[in-house]
Amino acid sequence: MTHIAIFASGTGTNARKIIEYFESSSEVKVALVVSNRKNALVLDAAAERGIPTILLERKSFYHSETILTELQTYSISLIILAGFLWLIPPYLVRAFTDRIINIHPALLPKFGGKGMYGHHVHEAVLDAGEKESGITIHLVDEIYDNGSTLFQAKCPVEVNDTPETLAKRVLKLEHYYFPRIIDEYIRETLPSRLPKT
Ligand code: GRF
Repeated sequence: MTHIAIFASGTGTNARKIIEYFESSSEVKVALVVSNRKNALVLDAAAERGIPTILLERKSFYHSETILTELQTYSISLIILAGFLWLIPPYLVRAFTDRIINIHPALLPKFGGKGMYGHHVHEAVLDAGEKESGITIHLVDEIYDNGSTLFQAKCPVEVNDTPETLAKRVLKLEHYYFPRIIDEYIRETLPSRLPKT
């Protein structure tokens, strides 16, 4: 059984989709949900399903490595960032090289980097007059939105789009593809990325 942890800061609609997707799986279990926001709805969603949750504090996340012990306690072998806004510190990237996956609501390398999240991304896409947008699912390194791309899916940008209408179209792609790409990664790639014990 592969245990995964989901890190999320916001409403957690992606986190919910991932939890639901793997709910009946005998191979993959969402074993932990981590958030940096006390009121994040994602924590309620996890608690409702009996999934353990951890609330991160900035200081301990960046200046201690206690999260590593917690991840070990729950036998986590893959971390999923589903709308998690803090930069992953180097010690965590090192411990989970090629084992942290993020989703970004645009076609990287365009419209990524620090500050490019939520409506900022969709505003930038519209301001640039792009004809299409989409999602990027990628591995995480020490730089925001920089790791290698695992998957992209595109959708059109319509002439009358607002950041909200575009966000909705992009989110639909996220909800459909993110769980499936995670599943594929776990089956095809993760086994060769696990640390040798
Ligand atoms: C998504 O658009 C994701 O791409 C981004 O943050 C948003 C999270 O949405 N990184 P939700 O919290 O899963 O609803």
